Amino acid sequence: MTLLEECPSESFREACIPVLETKRLALRAPRLEDAKMVAALVNDRRIAENVARIPHPYKKSDAESFITGANKPGGEAVFLITLRDETIIGACGLTKQDGVVAGPAPELGYWLGVEHWGKGYATEALHAVIDYAFTDLGHPALTAAARVTNPLSRRVLEKCGFQWTGVGLCRIRAINSSAPVDRFRLERGIWSALKTWGRMKKVS
Ligand SMILES: CC(C)(COP(=O)(O)OP(=O)(O)OC[C@H]1O[C@@H](n2cnc3c(N)ncnc32)[C@H](O)[C@@H]1OP(=O)(O)O)[C@@H](O)C(=O)NCCC(=O)NCCS
Repeated sequence: MTLLEECPSESFREACIPVLETKRLALRAPRLEDAKMVAALVNDRRIAENVARIPHPYKKSDAESFITGANKPGGEAVFLITLRDETIIGACGLTKQDGVVAGPAPELGYWLGVEHWGKGYATEALHAVIDYAFTDLGHPALTAAARVTNPLSRRVLEKCGFQWTGVGLCRIRAINSSAPVDRFRLERGIWSALKTWGRMKKVS
């Protein structure tokens, strides 16, 4: 089943999104029962001020809207990031760019609960989503943006192979204003070359 097919119920929507497993993490579709935990994690200005659409303060009802709006046909592919013991630590997803639903180069978005920063989890999770976007979804490229004041996010994107393409402005809901961002792009060819290089490094 593809993301573009009709997925009416929550369980059906969940079936549209695979579970992606990494060494330390599992990425899965969010469920309504996750709303309380998601709200507790994301209700932090340090997260809201660095992403475009997260309100602050962030209530359980905001999490419920986020979850019911996720993984709709033709919409965003959204994953919760969990540890292998199922503890929820954050979320990431591929969002439409400039209103183009599942357009040719969707934008990668991500956040982690602050207590989970600095352990390499974002980089590990994004590697899995990027592989999924290129292999299963067949996108030719991915884009991302990081506020110029957000070196952590920039570093994560660089570690995943993204290349800087320029600067721009992004509307940030939590500050009710626009802020300068660095824009990045990862072409399928670069991703593929990095994968091959990684495999060669392992065997040498
Ligand atoms: C951005 C975010 C997801 C990073 O998560 P994380 O799991 O801590 O990231 P990682 O541990 O995988 O990688 C962080 C990297 O930044 C580096 N770093 C940390 N502080 C840094 C700083 N001040 N300057 C430069 N690099 C820094 C780390 O050393 C690490 O790189 P390394 O592995 O080469 O040492 C997390 O900080 C977050 O949720 N921020 C709020 C939301 C956000 O910014 N989302 C992204 C915008 S869409």
